[in-house]
Amino acid sequence: MKPKVLVTSELPGDAISRLEAIADVKVHIGEHDLTKSQLIEQIQDKDAVISLLVNEIDKSVLQSAPNLKVVANYAVGFNNIDVDAATERNVVVTNTPDVLTEATADLAWALLLGIARRVPESDQFVRDGKFEGWKPNLLLGRSVHGKTLGVIGMGRIGEAVAKRAKGFDMEVLYYNRRQLSVKKENELNARYVGFEELLRSSDFISLHAPLTDESYHIIGKEELTMMKSSAYIINTSRGPLIDEGALVKALVDNVIAGAGLDVFEREPVLEPVLDQLPNVVLAPHVGSATIETRVEMANLAVDNVINVLKGLKAITPVNP
Ligand code: DGY
Repeated sequence: MKPKVLVTSELPGDAISRLEAIADVKVHIGEHDLTKSQLIEQIQDKDAVISLLVNEIDKSVLQSAPNLKVVANYAVGFNNIDVDAATERNVVVTNTPDVLTEATADLAWALLLGIARRVPESDQFVRDGKFEGWKPNLLLGRSVHGKTLGVIGMGRIGEAVAKRAKGFDMEVLYYNRRQLSVKKENELNARYVGFEELLRSSDFISLHAPLTDESYHIIGKEELTMMKSSAYIINTSRGPLIDEGALVKALVDNVIAGAGLDVFEREPVLEPVLDQLPNVVLAPHVGSATIETRVEMANLAVDNVINVLKGLKAITPVNP
């Protein structure tokens, strides 16, 4: 009998058809994500699941699936999964690192440039028929080149963001659990600093840490107050890294200059007023959303499932 796999959403590319060659695959198709109770019901007889970051795979879900061998998350972040509970049950958890690094770094830069140079506002201005000719004071933004970029969380994506800063002749400061090797620091032209120094000295701060108990609200009222009033914050990691209520207040009171946000604290719900502010650029969690990247993510998730179902090692496991 073929193993049974649940895929909680349609995925781009043909990865699922590869899976169908070796397994009975049930793909959830629909406008709405599976609710928790639907997930619990559908996972019961499954050997594997390919999950999205919106599917909470906690103890109760894991307990309802006695045959489950692998949870392949279609994301690099896996804060939606209780990895300890999975490990206790011998369930392998995998993610999709590397394949989305460059796309996510590109989007961080798109937000950074977009907010600093007021790209969405400019676009709206032209569409509204307000463009009446060149003016010295029209839609002035802030220069990006030669400024200081602060990277919080210098993993793969943080590094890719820092690498791009070289082309803008920026100084890069970073805060991370561990210091990079001297070779890597030289390569990236990045300097390891304390958290407070990064907050106080950066013109742009980009967040690239995973969501954990330590990183939750790493940016709150106090941290925003330490930032330069001309500084911008960019978040393409996870919304709860920023206290969104405190951020909205800081943006309204011009405590900082602006924000570029791809992720939100209570996604997809936004903090009231956030979408009314002129000094933010907002995106609907599309950091990895290129065709090429999403196809690669699907292939990696499927390959992880196939490997585990064949009794081989997962390619990108995250269990300790
Ligand atoms: C991730 O992979 O964690 C992103 O948030 C979605 O691609």
